[in-house]
Amino acid sequence: MDGDSVTQAESTVSCARCGKPAHLQCPKCVELKLPREGAAFCSQDCFKAAWSSHKSVHVKLKNDEAFNHSEELQKNWLYCLKKGQIRTPQCPHFDWTGTLRPYPISKHRVVPAAIEKPDWAMDGIPKIEPSSDLQSRVEIKTPDKIERMRETCRIAREVLDAAARFIRPGVTTDEIDEVVHEATIAAGGYPSPLNYHFFPKSCCTSVNEVICHGIPDARRLEDGDIVNVDVTVYYKGVHGDLNETYFVGNVDEESQRLVRCTYECLEKAISIVKPGVRFREVGEVINRHASLSGFSVVKSYCGHGIGELFHCAPNIPHYENKAVGLMKKGQIFTIEPMINAGIWRDRLWPDGWTAVTSDGKRSAQFEHTLLVTETGVEVLTGRLQSSPHVFPWLSS
Ligand code: MF3
Ligand code: CO
Ligand code: CO
Repeated sequence: MDGDSVTQAESTVSCARCGKPAHLQCPKCVELKLPREGAAFCSQDCFKAAWSSHKSVHVKLKNDEAFNHSEELQKNWLYCLKKGQIRTPQCPHFDWTGTLRPYPISKHRVVPAAIEKPDWAMDGIPKIEPSSDLQSRVEIKTPDKIERMRETCRIAREVLDAAARFIRPGVTTDEIDEVVHEATIAAGGYPSPLNYHFFPKSCCTSVNEVICHGIPDARRLEDGDIVNVDVTVYYKGVHGDLNETYFVGNVDEESQRLVRCTYECLEKAISIVKPGVRFREVGEVINRHASLSGFSVVKSYCGHGIGELFHCAPNIPHYENKAVGLMKKGQIFTIEPMINAGIWRDRLWPDGWTAVTSDGKRSAQFEHTLLVTETGVEVLTGRLQSSPHVFPWLSS
């Protein structure tokens, strides 16, 4: 865009740089249908001189203004309420804790008839999961089930990696959801979140102060944001679940420290996993590392058993806790610490899903699906040779 020249404006406004009468307009602002005020310049020289600071309005204003001007979006995109059971054209009122706001969400995405679906896909209600005895008893997986979990978790990893490669300033979280949805069905899988207790999308995208369960919507990612993408795939009758938090463009040092600390919390927790270890020790390790860095641990959401069920026993808190039970060979569960820059307390948006920090400060999360082995742990959702290099601390 640097090389473009400004185009002739219809009537006179003031130059966005020097205030003189302006007859020229930034072509990118015209393309985005941004307001003429702030897009007008008196000369090519003023336009060039203003470019480095001016260009950021193309992303920022696109979020706030252009959206409301588009008829297509007004017709087909609505705000989510009541856990996904209601849509509304008006942004709901709420005592927002930070600067992030919900945006409208797109229509539901379709999964081909040939793909095997979990029992909530049609009506939004899981039927086997809540009444299963595996809510209280931790399953020891058979070798066949372990092999299917390996396959599913590998697909989930590849799907998350596809999303990671796509992330940059200006993309909407709905477009990330589209990447996740298409990559999942291309692999023959079903995106487990889709219609799970009415969740309206195929993955969770949690930006800045969102702790977890953010709903992909029309908001464009901005330079400096952090965004967690949480992918779960259902394939060959089992679920695989993982998430990572990514940097969007240039992120401030404190947010980088938060994301790295959260990554380390998960790594430290994984390192203790082996037969005979108490489930409660996971939270002790995570709480210690987060506290030492001056961060806090979310209490409302925990790691969980996983397999033919999306969520089952054991429940694994990431904070100091009294959970009972020992790890055994053949168990499969997730660890998924959510770490806050400020206080640990969470609140829920009017959509019934989006968990945000109560103080509006940022939150990060990482998640893996883990198998307890004879001697330790197998990270079923572990990074692949092909995984993109998105974390500076992993590049040697
Ligand atoms: N993937 C999330 C987890 O780690 C659960 C998402 S459920 C949804 O447990 F409905 F919000 F998608
Ligand atoms: Co999980
Ligand atoms: Co998850």
